[in-house]
Amino acid sequence: MRPDVTPFHHAGTGTWSYVVADPATATAAIIDPVLDYDWKSGRTSTASADAVAAHCRDHGLQVCWILETHAHADHLSAAQHLKALLGGEVAIGRGIRSVQLTFKRLFGLSDFVPDGHQFDRLLEEDEQLPLGELSIRVLGTPGHTSDSISYVVGDAAFIGDTLFMPDGGSARCDFPGGDADELYRSVQKIFALPAETRVFVCHDYSPGGRAPLCQTSVAEQRRANIHIRDGVDAASFVNLRTQRDATLDVPNLIIPSVEVNIRAGHLPPPDADGVQYLRVPLNVFGKRR
Ligand SMILES: [Fe+2]
Repeated sequence: MRPDVTPFHHAGTGTWSYVVADPATATAAIIDPVLDYDWKSGRTSTASADAVAAHCRDHGLQVCWILETHAHADHLSAAQHLKALLGGEVAIGRGIRSVQLTFKRLFGLSDFVPDGHQFDRLLEEDEQLPLGELSIRVLGTPGHTSDSISYVVGDAAFIGDTLFMPDGGSARCDFPGGDADELYRSVQKIFALPAETRVFVCHDYSPGGRAPLCQTSVAEQRRANIHIRDGVDAASFVNLRTQRDATLDVPNLIIPSVEVNIRAGHLPPPDADGVQYLRVPLNVFGKRR
């Protein structure tokens, strides 16, 4: 049960998006697609997502699912653009509702209803989604965020922001709802997958200046991940993760990203003048300087 996996690298945010396809039926899912956003001008672009769409069209793929691993804080989702072009249902973990509630409050979004209805499907732990003759299994992997899930398709696992490549370690746990202890337990679930499982990460920041990479294996993570590998206990990991998180800056695009991503990739509704606006809460994110 080996799906075809095509990665797409988004250089501006270090994000990896994927098209995963059942070769027997040309049925596909898109995972974590990126909408380009220029902070200085406030302008969006679909160039990166259009490359994903072109791949799907060129290969005759029928897109059934557009899947988010979590509400990202570093890039805007292109889920709605791709849904409009290609079809498919936009899905995310059921935990999105608590993330929506948290950020509704932080952004002061009085009209926003945090019940997950913005998505076509809210996914549960162990739920199976059909993908032609294959199926997509949902693995609950919270910790980076409370809504984080991973997707297991045949011998491939798309692990969102849990682990990075072995030389990149693990994802931060200091966003609202993040929890390093929980991430440790989630990683043990990933480690329990077959050793030869192909593991696809959501980000790579090219540690040491090497070229961006997206694929490793469960065996390699268990052997060599610089933050969590076999033999690292929960307390040591939580300690390392907490110390490291204290040094990290707020992601560049957290404000536009979260506000769009809790809306399932819809931009906010337009004001009376027809213009769509984002809200910038002052002195809410980051540390006091
Ligand atoms: Fe993330």
